Amino acid sequence: MKDHPFSLDLGSDLSVTGSGPYDSHLVRKLSDLRGYFADRQAFEELLHREDPVIYEVLEIRRPEVSGELLSGLSIVHPGRVGDEYNMTKGHFHSVRETAEIYYVLKGHGLLLMENEAGEWAAEEVVPGRIVYVPPCWAHRSVNLALGEDLITFFVYPGHAGHDYGSIASSGFRKLVLHVDGGYKVVDNPAWKPPAGPG
Ligand SMILES: [Fe+2]
Repeated sequence: MKDHPFSLDLGSDLSVTGSGPYDSHLVRKLSDLRGYFADRQAFEELLHREDPVIYEVLEIRRPEVSGELLSGLSIVHPGRVGDEYNMTKGHFHSVRETAEIYYVLKGHGLLLMENEAGEWAAEEVVPGRIVYVPPCWAHRSVNLALGEDLITFFVYPGHAGHDYGSIASSGFRKLVLHVDGGYKVVDNPAWKPPAGPG
């Protein structure tokens, strides 16, 4: 873990690999995302043929405490499962009152967000754009460019933590589908309200 001041060079071509200046490299393959894509049959058919890497996260490790900032790169590879674009699992922060900033380096996509009050948002992302994810909003990256990685740099508070379980059990309220040559944000028919306490 780096503890003195440091700087990182993303490289002009953003040709990130598993090594480089990052402390950890998370790889999510299709098989890690069972239950996340709406078209279960398309998922199983694709998985039967291959198990592609859907996204990767390269992290700069710092202590996971208040006052620190955690940062790194998110890379969503292009592709679709049925009509649904490749995407990250998506998560809330365990400490809901923590925000996040995404800076878009490469590609074209959406940052799909929703909160527990039922609001949702889909911010289109292109290189040079920053998206601010307010506290209490779940967030997921969706790659709309079928031939190119979506690469974003993220920064969030050290004590935020990740709550993947809420999205794993409820899903997002919206799906992003490839329709008539473009993308469309539609209701997720499988979305169910989070289980209440007790
Ligand atoms: Fe986050």
